[in-house]
Amino acid sequence: MDRTVDTMNKPDREFETGLRPLSFEDFTGQRKVRERLELAVQAAKARGDVLDHVLLSGPPGLGKTTLAHIIAQAMGVNIKVTSGPVVDKPGDLAGLLTSIERGDVLFIDEIHRMQKSVEEYLYAAMEDFVLDIMIDQGPHARSVRLELPRFTLIGATTRSGLISSPLRSRFGLTNRLDYYGVDDLCRIVERSARILNVEIEADGTSEIAARSRGTPRIVNNLLRRVRDFAQVRADNKITRSVADQALAMLEIDKHGLDEMDKRILENLIHKFAGGPVGLSSLAVSAGEEPDTIEEVYEPYLIQEGYIARTPKGRIATELCYRRLGLQPRPDRQGVLDL
Ligand SMILES: Nc1ncnc2c1ncn2[C@@H]1O[C@H](COP(=O)(O)OP(=O)(O)O)[C@@H](O)[C@H]1O
Ligand SMILES: [Mg+2]
Repeated sequence: MDRTVDTMNKPDREFETGLRPLSFEDFTGQRKVRERLELAVQAAKARGDVLDHVLLSGPPGLGKTTLAHIIAQAMGVNIKVTSGPVVDKPGDLAGLLTSIERGDVLFIDEIHRMQKSVEEYLYAAMEDFVLDIMIDQGPHARSVRLELPRFTLIGATTRSGLISSPLRSRFGLTNRLDYYGVDDLCRIVERSARILNVEIEADGTSEIAARSRGTPRIVNNLLRRVRDFAQVRADNKITRSVADQALAMLEIDKHGLDEMDKRILENLIHKFAGGPVGLSSLAVSAGEEPDTIEEVYEPYLIQEGYIARTPKGRIATELCYRRLGLQPRPDRQGVLDL
């Protein structure tokens, strides 16, 4: 198999493809993003045109890969899947782009991790649909221009802040995915339960939805774990109590916070007296990259009102103290956001 294509391992792929929505109709939530993309697809199709390049950003598990496949499906074109770190030479890019047909989608996951040298080739490919490749070395070195069919690049990234502006400006459609509300997550649980053929009560659905960190991938994972529990210990039926017992066994927080979320909140309060603290200090204390904290963990913690951003740094809100079973700092009483 071509090394530059398909970076998912097999169990991942089987798991995700079973529950992955295949069309815009099945894609729950993210109403604005969905509407914009669907409209762009319809318009391009009606003109017999090639869809503009699309950049999808947002935390992991919110549906970027899913949307890339849905777009290709809706356009009725082939999709070729690769990822930023895998395409490490301009030649890799040439290999991918010369085998596509007009209108096809090239999906580059984690596009922020692409080598700078490859990225520069991508500019001309995206804009003028050509690749100037150097062949040979030393005195025989020469550049050969490859004409490419017009194609659609779909880039996905968890760190939109790391996308250079020349690259960003070449995407006609940029969309950011946000965490899902509980209602949307409930609909995803219902749909997945139908596909997995498990019986689930409304209370069980909302219990799982509330504990999944606003993330469809997590909601599906939890549903599968709860289903296992129900199958072995509870007559195959998911009630609230069954969901609660199964999730407690997995040490999933009542509020869906994971290990790293909890570590960040605990450090903020215990090591930095509730802040303000700068992102990089907070990241060092949690043993994680600042970018990852900023793009993967913090957005959810801010959205849920545990952390607030101030000009001086991050601070713990009243809710944050209460969540950890602590009395809020006197000056944080009533501080929900700033
Ligand atoms: N809007 C959605 N509706 C239903 N299921 C979704 C939705 N978004 C994501 N999922 C589910 O979550 C899983 C992870 O989504 P994925 O597209 O791989 O996320 P990302 O690429 O952003 O990390 C998918 O396999 C799919 O089952
Ligand atoms: Mg993905």
